[in-house]
Amino acid sequence: LGDGTEERLDVVGIPLEGTVPCASGGPNALSVVAAAREGGLLDVPAVYMDKIVVGPGAEGAIDIEAPPADNLARVAKALGIEIGELTVAVLDRPRHRELIRELRACGTRIRLIGDGDVSAALATLVPESGLDMLMGIGGAIQGVISAAAMHSGGGDMQARLVVRDPADRRRAQEAGFEDPARVLRLDDFVAGDTIVAATGVTPGDSLKGVRFRAGRAVTHSMVVRSETASLRFIEAYHRPLESPADV
Ligand code: FBP
Repeated sequence: LGDGTEERLDVVGIPLEGTVPCASGGPNALSVVAAAREGGLLDVPAVYMDKIVVGPGAEGAIDIEAPPADNLARVAKALGIEIGELTVAVLDRPRHRELIRELRACGTRIRLIGDGDVSAALATLVPESGLDMLMGIGGAIQGVISAAAMHSGGGDMQARLVVRDPADRRRAQEAGFEDPARVLRLDDFVAGDTIVAATGVTPGDSLKGVRFRAGRAVTHSMVVRSETASLRFIEAYHRPLESPADV
């Protein structure tokens, strides 16, 4: 983008995050982009990533190498609430059976999500969403965007690539990960000023979906920006374009 004379940026985008809910009318599909100055966003391979994400107030309280129970205890303490008052989003997948069992044993609230862990990560920045944490394995690209959002919005995140087979290992090595098991902290993911913008496609944890009213489309977006330490919601009313002159 641009004519080459502007400052260079790192940009990571997912035009449609949540293809299944978009096709089925399920929740949490969105369109999202994150940007930072060149070199400011970690380049990750297209593999899975184990993540633990927490919203503002519990920065520094998470440790992906510690058991879930320890993380819940530390986050609850940082937020000044009981473990039973925390709500943790987890992708509803067989691979999370043990994690879900452990969370239930701690008495925490679980929100099982069919898809869309970026939506859940963003929601930890919005108190009204009722979500405090995201735990479990999702996409690595989604992880970079979630980290940029936590960096911009004042939350925290730790993660690790999940290497399942030699093909994943090769992808990780090609992306410069000699030790794919190394813990990635927020500073490893993101540096400097960042901005993340997401627009709801279907209704979700903190964003409304696209609505069509009287020939107009209404969209709901959030913009999280580190430089201004702000999280903004934008409701936009789009009239149909009738000719190229309208653009
Ligand atoms: P897609 O839009 O690519 O289907 O991704 C949706 C998603 O749920 C992500 O939010 C999540 O990180 C990933 O898929 C989980 O992958 P999987 O569905 O293979 O468990």
